[in-house]
Amino acid sequence: MEYSFPHYLLSKQSVDDRALNRSVLDSLKLNLPTEPIRIIEVGAGIGTMLARLLRWDVMTKADYVLVDEMTENIEMAREWIPNWAVEAGLAVERIESDQLRVFDQVREVHICFERADVFDFIQKNPAPADLLIAHAFLDLLPMPESMPKLLSLTKSLAWLTINFDGVTSLEPSIDAALDEQIERLYHATMDTRLTGGDSHAGRHLFSHLRTAGAQVLAAGASDWVVHAVNGKYPADEAYFLRFILHFFEESLTGHPRLDADVFANWLKERHAQIERGELVYIAHQMDFLARL
Ligand SMILES: C[S@@+](CC[C@H](N)C(=O)[O-])C[C@H]1O[C@@H](n2cnc3c(N)ncnc32)[C@H](O)[C@@H]1O
Repeated sequence: MEYSFPHYLLSKQSVDDRALNRSVLDSLKLNLPTEPIRIIEVGAGIGTMLARLLRWDVMTKADYVLVDEMTENIEMAREWIPNWAVEAGLAVERIESDQLRVFDQVREVHICFERADVFDFIQKNPAPADLLIAHAFLDLLPMPESMPKLLSLTKSLAWLTINFDGVTSLEPSIDAALDEQIERLYHATMDTRLTGGDSHAGRHLFSHLRTAGAQVLAAGASDWVVHAVNGKYPADEAYFLRFILHFFEESLTGHPRLDADVFANWLKERHAQIERGELVYIAHQMDFLARL
């Protein structure tokens, strides 16, 4: 099977749609300034959050800067967003290779694509936005030192969503002790990545935000819960699950405390559970709305 990260981000959309904490979202809507809003999204992937905010009528008029370091993601965003917009009934104007306008009679979003490491982007001192978005991103960064730098990108609000918070559950159990060992080792890899990361990023954001001078306006769980309905996973969620197992495989293959054959069989059985529509995956995560 071919593993494509942009395809994984596409398959994640319906899982994130269900997971995003609605009371934090309501608080965001209540606190948004009058439009047009300036938004900077960091670690934006292929732009699915931008599409979601239009789909959910959270924004109608905005200047939106999408920052991601992966060339593959930004290239996909340049293609995928206009295709999505046309299907959603919006007109598309390409301004330059790195800018786009999507609009209809009521909506108008000016989009700017920035392929950059977020800290290089911050170094360029961009004008702070009304709203900073970081979705499924902060648990990958070194904390607390990244927080003040990230908050320099906003003059007011930060909506920080899908921050992993220490719980992974895969059911049904294959071997309780082995399941527990694999989950524990997997979480440990998040804490020891050279580029940063925290397997309990969600709960730690309360203090990281406070220390950086931001006030938490709303917080709540945004757990991923993926299961089959009548033996079939919704949308592209079987692919999403296979990619989650791919993360396990990439992180733990060759781990000195894991027998290679035992781990390979465990992965094989988990894939078979997806095939049979049996696998239930839960990841505990947290969303925040903060104000400077
Ligand atoms: C888990 S993905 C989430 C992407 C997107 N927010 C979504 O949920 O669809 C994390 C993203 O952060 C990007 N990323 C990781 N480190 C980065 C950095 N230092 N600067 C900019 N982007 C980064 C990756 O390329 C990836 O697209």
